[in-house]
Amino acid sequence: MSADPLHTLDHAGPIVTLQSHVLQQQSLIPGATGTLSWILSSLSISAKIIANKVRCARLQDVLGEAGADNVQGEKQQKLDVISNAVLLRLLGGRDGVAIVASEENEEPVIIRKDPSGEGRYCVLFDPLDGSSNLDVCGGVGTIFSILRHDPHAADAQGSLLQPGSAQVAAGYVLYGSSTVFVLTVGHGVDMFVLDPAVGAFMLVERGLRTPAASRSYSVNEGNRRTFPEGYQKYLDWAQDSGYSSRYVGSMVADVHRILLKGGVFMYPPTKKAPAGKLRLMYEANPMAMLIEQAGGKALVAPGRRVLDVQPTDIHERTPVILGSSDEVDHVAAHLG
Ligand code: AHG
Ligand code: MN
Ligand code: MN
Repeated sequence: MSADPLHTLDHAGPIVTLQSHVLQQQSLIPGATGTLSWILSSLSISAKIIANKVRCARLQDVLGEAGADNVQGEKQQKLDVISNAVLLRLLGGRDGVAIVASEENEEPVIIRKDPSGEGRYCVLFDPLDGSSNLDVCGGVGTIFSILRHDPHAADAQGSLLQPGSAQVAAGYVLYGSSTVFVLTVGHGVDMFVLDPAVGAFMLVERGLRTPAASRSYSVNEGNRRTFPEGYQKYLDWAQDSGYSSRYVGSMVADVHRILLKGGVFMYPPTKKAPAGKLRLMYEANPMAMLIEQAGGKALVAPGRRVLDVQPTDIHERTPVILGSSDEVDHVAAHLG
């Protein structure tokens, strides 16, 4: 057998990069102008810059707190601030971006205002998810959601406050043992891995499907006693049924495992966070779109899809139950 990686790839079919994949998908959409492709390209460059920062964090002394709280009242890490700036600078340079909203900015950032801005987009993101894991070299990520901009909306909120079902694209980047870019533009879920030697994201899986069942749950069980009763009953049932528990505490890392291996991820209401902790528009919605596109389910409560929630605030929080369809059904059955 040859040790030459190119030889191996030769036999595995064409080499497809994220960039060429996006252009291919664009050609399938009648009337597509390429605007979305340019935005995705800026997200891919941002991901490479942030991946490099994350990998060198201790060497470049950018670990630790930035000394301020964000709009959620949570401690900002230096890398939260740096990643946010990278995304704002990259997206700000793309003509197709009208408004950007970030976990780290209280107000949306208006990039382009002219009312003739038909065909532009809003990009919402969590620049660095799971950032409390940085100091211990744990997996962190970037989550993004892309919506069509309404140039006739009265203000930025008016354009941004759309339900998740209106997303035109969503995805995340996991800065883990490798850097992984997972994307949907509404035609299934595709996965890319950064080849650091080449500097490009390479397609490794097209049309990813999450297993329909897997006896595994992912939840912060430290909060168990303050979960609504149905969640506690579900956990009793799952433990009696021999389920495994897996929880990183970084949504991107936890959801990535569920996308590939199956199981259910939950962040229920707690005493500390009665409406749930996770943010609807840039955490729950993009993950819900990906999971549904991969054949799974994503609910805020039994019978209520994450993607159907009409947001009233860009930073609003929501309970989340998502993952393998059978496993989400088991949770919902216990919630009654
Ligand atoms: P962020 O770092 O962007 O604030 O997000 C952290 C989130 C999410 O990644 C994770 O699922 C959750 O917080 C973990 O919360 P607990 O530590 O309460 O389990
Ligand atoms: Mn987050
Ligand atoms: Mn974050």
